Amino acid sequence: MGLFRTIASTLILIIFVYVSHQLTRFADFTWRGQTLVIAFLALLFSMVIGSFLFFWKEKHLDHRPWRDRLLNGALLGMAYINFLVSFVILRDIVAFVESFIPLTSVENLYSSQATAALLGLPVLFMALGNFVVQVGPRLKKVPLHFENLPRGLEGLKIVHVSDLHIGTTLPVSFVKKLVDRIHEIKPDLVVFTGDILDNFVEKHQTELTLLKNLRAPHGIYYVPGNHEYYWDAAKSMQAFRDIGFQVLINQVANVTVDSSHLQVAGIPDPAGHHFQHEGPDLPRLQSSLDEKSFKILLSHQPSLASKVQKLGIDLQLSGHTHGGQFFPWNWLIVFFERYSKGLYRLGNMRLYVNQGTGYWGPQVRLGTYCELTEIVLRKDSKTE
Ligand SMILES: [Fe+2]
Repeated sequence: MGLFRTIASTLILIIFVYVSHQLTRFADFTWRGQTLVIAFLALLFSMVIGSFLFFWKEKHLDHRPWRDRLLNGALLGMAYINFLVSFVILRDIVAFVESFIPLTSVENLYSSQATAALLGLPVLFMALGNFVVQVGPRLKKVPLHFENLPRGLEGLKIVHVSDLHIGTTLPVSFVKKLVDRIHEIKPDLVVFTGDILDNFVEKHQTELTLLKNLRAPHGIYYVPGNHEYYWDAAKSMQAFRDIGFQVLINQVANVTVDSSHLQVAGIPDPAGHHFQHEGPDLPRLQSSLDEKSFKILLSHQPSLASKVQKLGIDLQLSGHTHGGQFFPWNWLIVFFERYSKGLYRLGNMRLYVNQGTGYWGPQVRLGTYCELTEIVLRKDSKTE
């Protein structure tokens, strides 16, 4: 982990040099203004690097109000830097284009006023992004039509939760809101597709007690995401079993609904391999699948879809991508993830990617929202 920290810190430092240079070098600031901007950026960047080095050590992750506030502050600093760097790059791109096609409207691009606006704009973006998170989980209804749906499964209501990231920055009230909203939906089945717990389980008993209140007549199913493995995955999985979730590690649950057969299968995140746990084992899973049942597979990573499709799965439910979570990643995500959010069709299989019910890191979402999905199965040949 030492190497990772060194690389990450060096990267942050390089970004600092680039941003400070671009913000001050060409602007018509007085020396005082210039010093102020650089001092502000230096403070912000050192807070982010410092907290990053400090908090990465597990022993510093216990809840203490000042540490939680410091971590939240550093993560907000990270969000500010993210927006600022994006704007600085965008300004440079516009200036580059302007050097070929002179645009009268952008001639003062590097004035001190423009630079001051550039420094203020991230605050506005963060406020908007924080508002999106404060709203809490937003319901998205997704009706899915299948020709081969067994009669008994017509109208089956599945609630899909993914990437909640229970940890220091997710308030308990968010989990409470989520549980209340799921109760209102009255689902037949609830599925959790990983990255639900992103910290040591001992520190989040309150949230787990809230999740324990969830009820669904045909069960609550869970598969781990990559983030569960960064902590104590064995303990997390046991904790989920203890609150009544069926943890599916290359396993299949057989459910009968009005004499129709449904199989809910689950694979763990490939990160399991790197943490001395089981990774996805599709041949093993296949041996438990049966031809006649309607088959739903839970996989944190949507990228496994093409392999999953070969198993004759009808519907894969995934998460992981967060839809990019905030600008500019909500646009750039398509370059990193083939299936970034929403519904996809692979042959006869449907893949649905939830863009994350919670959020990772700073309490900010922009260009995406906290999604709670309600999937209703329908029997007919209509395409969505
Ligand atoms: Fe996640």
